[in-house]
Amino acid sequence: MRMYDLIYTKKLGGALSPDEIAFWVKGAADGSIPDEQSASLLMAICWRGMSTEETLALTLAMRDSGKRLDLSPVPGVKVDKHSTGGVGDKTTMILGPIVAACGVPCPMFSGRGLGHTGGTVDKFEAIPGLKVELSEAEFLRSLTETRFANSAPTGDIAPADKKLYALRDITATVESIPLITASIMSKKLAGGADALVLDVKCGPTAFMKTLEDATTLAQSMVDVGTAHGMQIRALITRMDAPLGWAIGNALEIMESVEILRGEHGNSELAQMSFRLAAEMLIMGGVAKTLPEAQAKVQASIQDGSALETLRRFVALNGGDAQALADFTRLPQAGQVVDVLAAQDGYIADIDGRALGILAMDLGAGRRDRNDVLDLGVGIRVLAQVGQKVVKGDLLFQVYAKTNQVILPDLYLSTLRLTMNAAIQPPWLLASIGC
Ligand code: URA
Repeated sequence: MRMYDLIYTKKLGGALSPDEIAFWVKGAADGSIPDEQSASLLMAICWRGMSTEETLALTLAMRDSGKRLDLSPVPGVKVDKHSTGGVGDKTTMILGPIVAACGVPCPMFSGRGLGHTGGTVDKFEAIPGLKVELSEAEFLRSLTETRFANSAPTGDIAPADKKLYALRDITATVESIPLITASIMSKKLAGGADALVLDVKCGPTAFMKTLEDATTLAQSMVDVGTAHGMQIRALITRMDAPLGWAIGNALEIMESVEILRGEHGNSELAQMSFRLAAEMLIMGGVAKTLPEAQAKVQASIQDGSALETLRRFVALNGGDAQALADFTRLPQAGQVVDVLAAQDGYIADIDGRALGILAMDLGAGRRDRNDVLDLGVGIRVLAQVGQKVVKGDLLFQVYAKTNQVILPDLYLSTLRLTMNAAIQPPWLLASIGC
C-alpha cells in the first residue's frame, strides 16, 4: 500500500477502504508515514469528506492505536458526557457528581483549555492538591468509591488522535465533521463507558456555527457510537453568551459548587446541566422517563448528596475538600476591577468568544499549549441577555493579576445594546435520540 495512492484517491473524492485507513493511522502514529503526507490527506478529507463507513473505520483505527480501558470491574451502566466546548462551560463539574449521587457511575476524561475555550482539567486543577492526571488504578478507585472519576486522558488512550490533532491544529484542518467525529469518538470508545450523552454546541462562540452543521456533527457521532453498541444521545445547545456567570478556573469551581448547593437553579447553566444529567440517568437505567430522572436530579441537589459526592471525589484524589465550602482557599486574583455600564439600553447579545479571549489574556486560558495559567483570574459576568441596563450598573467584575491594566471599554464592547427589550432565545435547539 502506498500513502501517495490514498492521498490521490481522496483528492479525487473517492472512498478509502478500512485497510487503507488503518494503514494510514498506524503509520501516522508510529512515524513511518511522513507528516507532509498525513497533512495532505487531512486536507483532502476536509474538502472531500468521508462516508459513514470511512468515518467508522477511522474511529476504530484511532481507538485501536492505544489502550482500551476495561471498566467492567465497576458494576452498573457507565455513562459519560462530552461537550464540544464553549466559554464558561462547567457542566461536567455539576452533572458528574449529580449522576454519581443518583447511582450511575460516571467515568470522564477531560481536556485542558486552548484559545478562547476552557478545559475541565484546568478548572479542577484550581482545587488545591487535587490530582487531575490519574493512573488507571486511581481512576478505577475513584469510580468504584465515589462513582465519579475525572482525569486528563492517559497518553495511551488513542495516541493516534494526539498526533493527528497536532497536525490538524497547524494545517487548518480541525473543522471537518468526519475528523472531529473520529477524534472525539475514538477517545470515548477507548475510555470504556457504555453510554454517552453529547452536548453539541452551536453558535458564534462554538466550532459549529449553524444548526445544520451542529446537527450533522451530532448525527455523525451518534451513528458511530450506535454502530459500536454504545447507547448514545445528543443535545444541540446554543453557544453565544458565556454559560453561567463565571469564566476562569477558580471562579468556575465556585459557580459549580453554588449550583450543587441549590443556588441559581433557574439559570441556563443549571437547566442545561440538569437536563444532561437526566438523560444520563435514563441511559444508566435508574429512571425510565424524563420527569422521573429530573426529580432524581433535584433530589440529589436538595438532600446535598450531589455536593457530598463532589467533596468525596476531591478528598479521595488528594484535593482540599474544605475549599468547596471556603472559597478563600481557592486561588485568588491580585485585584478585582468593576466594569460599569457607560450608557442606558437593553442587552441584546453578549459575545462569549470575545470574553473568552479577554479571559485568556488575563491568564485564565492558553494562547499556546505551553502557557502557564493563573487559576485565580477570570471574569464575573453580571450582564445578561435581555437585561435592562442603566448607566453606572455593574456589568462585569474582572479578576486580574496585581498591576494588570484593565481597559473597561474592551469588556463593554462585548455587549450589543439596543433601545428595545431583547429576548433570550432558548438554550436547547434540538436533540437526537432523547
Ligand atoms: N475535540 C476533540 O477532541 N477533537 C476534535 O477534533 C475537536 C474537538
